[in-house]
Amino acid sequence: MERSFPGRCCLVAMIIFAMSLVAKSQLSTDFYQTTCPDLLKIVRKEVQNAIKSEMRMAASLLRLHFHDCFVNGCDASILLDGTDGEKSAFPNVNSARGFEVIDTIKSSVESACSGVVSCADILAIAARDSVLLSGGNSWQVLLGRRDGLVSNQTGANNGLPSPFDTLPTIISKFAILGLNVTDVVSLSGAHTIGLARCATFSNRLFNFNETGSPDSTLDSSMATDLQNLCPVTSDGNNTAALDRNSRDLFDNHYFQNLLNGKGLLGSDQLLISSDAADTTSTKTLVQSYSSNSNLFLTDFTNSMIKMGNISPLTGSAGEIRKNCRVVNS
Ligand code: HEM
Ligand SMILES: *[C@@H]1O[C@H](CO)[C@@H](O)[C@H](O)[C@H]1NC(C)=O
Ligand SMILES: *[C@@H]1O[C@H](CO)[C@@H](O)[C@H](O)[C@H]1NC(C)=O
Ligand SMILES: *[C@@H]1O[C@H](CO)[C@@H](O)[C@H](O)[C@H]1NC(C)=O
Ligand SMILES: *[C@@H]1O[C@H](CO)[C@@H](O)[C@H](O)[C@H]1NC(C)=O
Repeated sequence: MERSFPGRCCLVAMIIFAMSLVAKSQLSTDFYQTTCPDLLKIVRKEVQNAIKSEMRMAASLLRLHFHDCFVNGCDASILLDGTDGEKSAFPNVNSARGFEVIDTIKSSVESACSGVVSCADILAIAARDSVLLSGGNSWQVLLGRRDGLVSNQTGANNGLPSPFDTLPTIISKFAILGLNVTDVVSLSGAHTIGLARCATFSNRLFNFNETGSPDSTLDSSMATDLQNLCPVTSDGNNTAALDRNSRDLFDNHYFQNLLNGKGLLGSDQLLISSDAADTTSTKTLVQSYSSNSNLFLTDFTNSMIKMGNISPLTGSAGEIRKNCRVVNS
């Protein structure tokens, strides 16, 4: 008889597992249906306004959500001001942008429904709208995240992928967060919009890996263009399109570029040219996405929903920040 009951340790394990399922299912698409019915309209309108004055803002807002979710989960930790937080971490300093737009969205949302909607959810909706308004797919955003109380600079420095990482390092940084190789490749397709500073790719242009030559996987006419944009004496602040084919359009040209040696970042091009074992699977995905735009857009959507589910604070954890830049007093 005894044996038909799970042992005490197994029971505890089962309860913890059941609780983790509940925590996951706490995000829902209708979370603010009664408390802030116009939320989605308000965010859409503000993102539209921002993009009208600067198309690049779509890319910047999408990246903010990514950089938020990869550090302590999607908890708006990237929005907190302070020199010892995520804003000053290497991947973000002089790089992450769009904070003023988030402030504007937050104040419109606060006017309609005060103290109800988290900054983390605003980031998730703004990212979806940015993709849609750039020509990509739409999807229903899961909501109900709460805002974190700490900004984790070390977490940002260690957890966010770098353009100088190897492919296995990038894959492992995603894997730690429950994202697999399909997610790595589909989400990398976000580099179909936006810009990157010379500082993030100029290592490829003149003396790559001490070879005295540009990166051999970089198309040579593109290398010449970029050498002119990013002379050795420059400050590294000039910018180039991540997808030089259609910099503002959310399409699959990013993957077509890779097949032509026209990825901008070293980490982009590694998806097909790394000598690591994983390259077989990443290259197959790049080929599929480059020839099948719908497959890319569908996989991208699924991966964005997965990324948006990384360790959300729910229930009474965290708080609903009044001002996205500071924790409530
Ligand atoms: C796979 C590993 C990734 C690496 C190594 C990486 C690296 C970078 C770098 C170095 C930049 C340029 C930053 C600068 O100029 O200061 C950039 C820009 C950008 N990244 Fe990524 N990224 C990765 C994945 C992603 C993901 C998963 C997303 C979103 C889902 C994303 C969205 C963007 C966007 C939209 C921009 C342009 C931002 C703008 O123009 O303001 N990236 N990325
Ligand atoms: C910061 O992130 C790291 C993961 O890189 C984690 O181990 C650590 O607990 C986080 N610190 C805080 C204060 O959240
Ligand atoms: C990654 O996970 C998704 C489900 O989230 C699954 O459909 C896909 O096949 C997985 N890809 C790999 C390479 O395991
Ligand atoms: C850089 O050069 C070293 C030594 O020649 C080599 O082992 C390594 O694979 C090279 N790395 C890249 C990214 O080409
Ligand atoms: C690059 O631009 C940032 C501001 O975006 C500035 O703080 C930095 O000093 C600039 N770098 C150089 C070398 O001028």
